[in-house]
Amino acid sequence: MNILFIGDVVGEPGRDTIKKYLPKLKEKYHPTIVIVNGENAAAGKGITEKIYRQFLELGIQVITMGNHTWDNRDIFEFIDNAKYLIRPANFPESNPGKGIVYIRINSYEIAVINLQGRTFLPANDCPFQKADELIKEARKRTSLIFVDFHAEATSEKQAMGWYLDGRVSAVVGTHTHVQTADQRILPKGTAYITDVGMTGNYDGILGVNKEAVLRKFLTNLPAKFDISKDGRIQLCGVNIEINEKTGEAKGIERIMLNDDQRLFD
Ligand SMILES: [Fe+2]
Ligand SMILES: [Fe+2]
Repeated sequence: MNILFIGDVVGEPGRDTIKKYLPKLKEKYHPTIVIVNGENAAAGKGITEKIYRQFLELGIQVITMGNHTWDNRDIFEFIDNAKYLIRPANFPESNPGKGIVYIRINSYEIAVINLQGRTFLPANDCPFQKADELIKEARKRTSLIFVDFHAEATSEKQAMGWYLDGRVSAVVGTHTHVQTADQRILPKGTAYITDVGMTGNYDGILGVNKEAVLRKFLTNLPAKFDISKDGRIQLCGVNIEINEKTGEAKGIERIMLNDDQRLFD
């Protein structure tokens, strides 16, 4: 079976890119399940119910989040009913929402887990301990387990990959918005990549309007980050091939569509 994962979707350009190119990717990879990181989907900050529903309508089965989970207040209104949206599982216990979801497709059940790193990010519960806890629970039901580890530090992400090798089908990194070229199958059968990269404005800085980010670097004054709708676009993802009987990963392919890598169409 194939799992198609698309990295941090940033604002309207990111959403438009998915809308346009997801059908082509589905045609190519025939994924059993499509997972998207949506922490930046609403103008770079969080997600709204409308966007969540649009993602589901596009045939996306799970939306994962990250450090921007609570940036758009709309989430507090719908997260309790958003069955297919997960936020990092190691957020404080009292937080709304959940960090794991089970998706049943045909005769298979896939567990999707979202975790967040603690290096250069706000303090949260230990993602490694939380992973142990959730994997123990998930393995009672299925050996198909997918982890989106939303973290800043490459070392923390690699550590998670090795820690979970052989216990989950895939550990993919999100958050830094720049795709890394280190995709591999770890020795015990877990697919790994440090960062999947972002989907959105290719002519910005991490998907954000470059003028605003530059102004911030040049002046140190507060700057409002916005998403430019002009300019070229990019889509970043990975396709992971898994033995559906054992949960072992057989292949991981990077997908990077932009004017410099592989042309759209
Ligand atoms: Fe992000
Ligand atoms: Fe993030």
